[in-house]
Amino acid sequence: MKIVLQSPLDMHLHLRENTMLQTVAPYTCRTFAGAVIMPNLVSPVDSLEKLRRYKDEIMKAGKSDTFAAYMTLFFRKYTREELAQAKKEIIGIKLYPAGITTRSESGVSNFDEIDETLSLMEEMEIPLLVHGESNGFVLDRETEFLSMYQRLAEAFPKLHIVMEHITTAAAVDFIDRYPNVSATVTLHHLLITLDDVIGGLLDPDLFCKPIAKRPEDRLRLREAVFSGHGRIMFGSDSAPHPRHKKECCGCAAGIFSAPVALPMLAELFEEAGRLDLLQHFTSDIACRRYGIQPPQKTVTLEKKSWTVPELCGTVKPFGAGRQLRWSVTETV
Ligand code: DOR
Ligand code: ZN
Repeated sequence: MKIVLQSPLDMHLHLRENTMLQTVAPYTCRTFAGAVIMPNLVSPVDSLEKLRRYKDEIMKAGKSDTFAAYMTLFFRKYTREELAQAKKEIIGIKLYPAGITTRSESGVSNFDEIDETLSLMEEMEIPLLVHGESNGFVLDRETEFLSMYQRLAEAFPKLHIVMEHITTAAAVDFIDRYPNVSATVTLHHLLITLDDVIGGLLDPDLFCKPIAKRPEDRLRLREAVFSGHGRIMFGSDSAPHPRHKKECCGCAAGIFSAPVALPMLAELFEEAGRLDLLQHFTSDIACRRYGIQPPQKTVTLEKKSWTVPELCGTVKPFGAGRQLRWSVTETV
């Protein structure tokens, strides 16, 4: 049994820098035709110079001429001139509330001061990608942030707002109310709940932001995806951390799912009886919502089992040691 995907895309990806970039980039660049690259580096990607340099490094590390790195700038106040210059080279601007997750310290601390830049982005048709969490109680952070999404969606009705890595039923309901809003959902939030993270022995490899939620939230995410929702697309949020930063006191947030993303999605969609929607979820929605035309890449998945390695370099991948039913057998 085979599935053939045309130009699958990962619309939310962390590739890091230096040695880590060299280790992780090939996993995505081999099997995806493109990915939206997150800008939360040690020194955030907040200028065109940094962005160009970073893109070069990614393309060298990825070693694929059928891969598009869709770059994002880290949100700050940008002038009209800066945005006009950047427009052709970015897919959007990523906004982090200050301190909400890994390397977001220089994110937004005063949301009253962002409107001028958002207004320019709306005018220039530059999408806004958002890590939408408040700094309230951890399970309520995404839901608390919905009032901010509402303010932005109403104040800037022509701004394309992408709610990144949604995890709650409330977020799915929210999207349906605003046509200018899209969302990404990760593989892991379709698979796990908080029980998998802390319900038994604590599992640092499943610790991520936003934290996985309740079974009813996972169910609602699945219902949306498996009904072919037109504005909820795949974004892995694959976020590698070396093992010593996960298996320690003060565990870093992030799940490294790039090596298993497509095979595990195939399993999940097969179990739901919706393999017919995999192309839609992993490519078509993103192309339509962002108006992009990725490089042509035909990716074949076959029902051949393989075992996920325990380590990829220094990083433990999602599902390490598990036997998966689907393999990527060909990319052209
Ligand atoms: O779990 C996460 N890890 N969530 C994020 O928002 C950031 C990411 C990272 O960069 O490690
Ligand atoms: Zn992320």
